[in-house]
Amino acid sequence: MKIVNVVGARPNFMKIAPLMRAYKGCNSIEPLLVHTGQHYDEKMSDLFFSQLEIPEPDVNLEVGSASHATQTAEIMKAFEPVVLEHKPDVVLVVGDVNSTIACGLVAVKLGVKLVHIEAGLRSNDRSMPEEINRVLTDSISDLLFCTEQSGVDNLLREGIPKGKIFLVGNVMIDTLLKNRAKAATSNVLRQFNLDSNGFAVLTLHRPSNVDDVSAFGRVLDALEIIQNDMPVIFPIHPRTRKNLSSWSLGERIEKLPNLRLTDPLGYLDFLKLMSSARLVLTDSGGIQEETTVLGIPCITLRETTERPVTAEIGSNQVVGTDTEKIVNAYKQAANGKWCEPQIPSLWDGHAAERIVKIILDKL
Ligand code: UD1
Repeated sequence: MKIVNVVGARPNFMKIAPLMRAYKGCNSIEPLLVHTGQHYDEKMSDLFFSQLEIPEPDVNLEVGSASHATQTAEIMKAFEPVVLEHKPDVVLVVGDVNSTIACGLVAVKLGVKLVHIEAGLRSNDRSMPEEINRVLTDSISDLLFCTEQSGVDNLLREGIPKGKIFLVGNVMIDTLLKNRAKAATSNVLRQFNLDSNGFAVLTLHRPSNVDDVSAFGRVLDALEIIQNDMPVIFPIHPRTRKNLSSWSLGERIEKLPNLRLTDPLGYLDFLKLMSSARLVLTDSGGIQEETTVLGIPCITLRETTERPVTAEIGSNQVVGTDTEKIVNAYKQAANGKWCEPQIPSLWDGHAAERIVKIILDKL
């Protein structure tokens, strides 16, 4: 069985790594890896391939950044000849980025079976580009692999036949568990002169936060208070950096000595940083899951989450961008007044093996 596996953006790399490893134990699968090039900076892409031991992509479409329509269209145009040339039995896509829907659509139009990893997650906020990508990719997939029960329930509600849906656990957590010991040896705390449990980590890159000057301003009001209390380490996404430099908010950040901006970090340094933090503030999806497994309080700076299990039983509180709510949640977390998180079922490091077995059984 020839499987073309697609990655494009940073969060895809952690998801594909355990699958590429699982294929190795399986003679009947011939995997190919296609990188769309949606993310291309060394710190957003190459570093992850080396740290996570992902094989070099067989094909790089080198599409790069553009508007949503242009980026999606360029990926489709570049991916179609790859599918025609290699004639795979299956195209496998992960997550919810533009590369996911673009390559999914090409596959089904050419009559190739489509597998979606991390299916069924729903924020029910259609203004998020990822939500559109999720709904559309799920509606055209032949096999849908879910990380949590809410994903299964959402797909059934949308009329996807039960026989196509499988609750298998979380490939991103496969990667976390595999790399935890290696990450423990990172010297990132020394590099930033931090004491374990004595600092906060911040990530922000959602358009609803960083393309909206008033939302960003409200978050900064909270950060101004938090950084008076403890250092806040802020590895900054290229999209966020671009916006900061075009707004006066960049100057405001420079005046906050304990809000420490750095370039994007590699996987191992970032995992060490999260594991050692008192708390994490974020608008990322994956980080809500990772902090749940690490047992680190996570304050999510969004109005919704597509990963409700992390808030129901994990260490996540979804607080939005209201300054007072962020500061209140911060105080609770900093004072140790946080729930004792449980790890969602099947987040045990073996999701990729389950997925490969089911693909072989069903397709
Ligand atoms: C994309 C995903 C988002 C995911 C995020 C993780 C979509 C719709 N969005 O958002 O779901 O959470 O990746 O990072 O697919 N840029 C660089 N270097 C890079 C990549 C991007 O400088 O390697 C800059 C460019 O200016 C680009 C901007 O970042 O215009 C945004 O990149 P893009 O891939 O469009 O979306 P992300 O915000 O990264």
